[in-house]
Amino acid sequence: MMRLGILTSGGDCPGLNAVIRGAVLRGTIGHDFEFVGFRDGWKGVLDDDVIPLPRPAVRGISGLGGTMLGTSRTNPLRDGGAGPVSQSLRRHGVDGLIAIGGEGTLAAARVLSEQGVNVIGVPKTIDNDLGGTDYTFGFDTAVQTATDAIDRLRTTGESHHRCMIAEVMGRNAGWIALHAGMASGAHAILIPEHRVSLEQTAVWVSSAHERGRAPLVVVAEAFSPAGQEEPYAPRGLDTFGRPRLGGIGIMLEGLLQEMTGIETRATVLGHIQRGGAPTAFDRVLATRLGMAAVGLASAGKWGTMVSLKGTDITDVPLASALGDLKTVPESRFKEAEALFG
Ligand code: F6P
Repeated sequence: MMRLGILTSGGDCPGLNAVIRGAVLRGTIGHDFEFVGFRDGWKGVLDDDVIPLPRPAVRGISGLGGTMLGTSRTNPLRDGGAGPVSQSLRRHGVDGLIAIGGEGTLAAARVLSEQGVNVIGVPKTIDNDLGGTDYTFGFDTAVQTATDAIDRLRTTGESHHRCMIAEVMGRNAGWIALHAGMASGAHAILIPEHRVSLEQTAVWVSSAHERGRAPLVVVAEAFSPAGQEEPYAPRGLDTFGRPRLGGIGIMLEGLLQEMTGIETRATVLGHIQRGGAPTAFDRVLATRLGMAAVGLASAGKWGTMVSLKGTDITDVPLASALGDLKTVPESRFKEAEALFG
């Protein structure tokens, strides 16, 4: 019998509950794993906030947004090393840990693993910017939510003959903007990887307007126009010391209206993109990743991260999973740009 702990850490993301369910079912149907959940991420490990996770506890949760375990951005290495985590796992009789999280969580998991903690990582983020996996669960849901919102902005924009701007999340990657912008037929998609000028954006907006369309601009939260200094001040720092983004859409509202003479309105979609039920794609991906994580634990492959390669679930060492962030390549932007204006 093996006893595994599960935690969800960092920003939440649709599909977290499906991972938990996938792991628990895989470990309890025909296998004799036992599971506990640490509440609010690493905080639960450090504070002994632990709950049993028997099979009935995960029944019917794969379609629910958020995380039944709660989350936080607590850094498990805040006291200088793996000691407090190892001691907590020992106190609770936990043989190994499944840590579901993004860049910060997986980087911490890697250090803990190097210091002897049995840990397996499950990558999650709506931003889809983790290099060690082809897609992260949560991304598909965020794109669908953003697309639904942008479709609504289009109809009100058309009624008022306005230019509509939708600002989407993604941190330093433009994946959500690119996919939601393509899906909704945006006339301009502005992403941090390929900065275009305000003048070029105004040309795309005016050209759509001249054809009688309501110009639709999708902008990623970290975009800043080519040839300009940072046009907005990040709203302080998060607990990892990273800038809190958001606000470029509102800034563009005034600038584009002034340049084009077209009445313009901006909407910041914000955390709506992180909430709500996961899409079927994300539920399936998350379930498969949860199941695979238990498979790795069973095989004693600690220090690894489950990963999607093509359509297969595989695993990569945590040490090599966290290279550079995966940003939108030039070719993908050019492909979308061909339809702008
Ligand atoms: O990484 C996910 C994400 O939603 C980013 O897209 C966004 O910049 C950030 O988290 C927001 O973080 P918080 O919930 O701490 O405001």
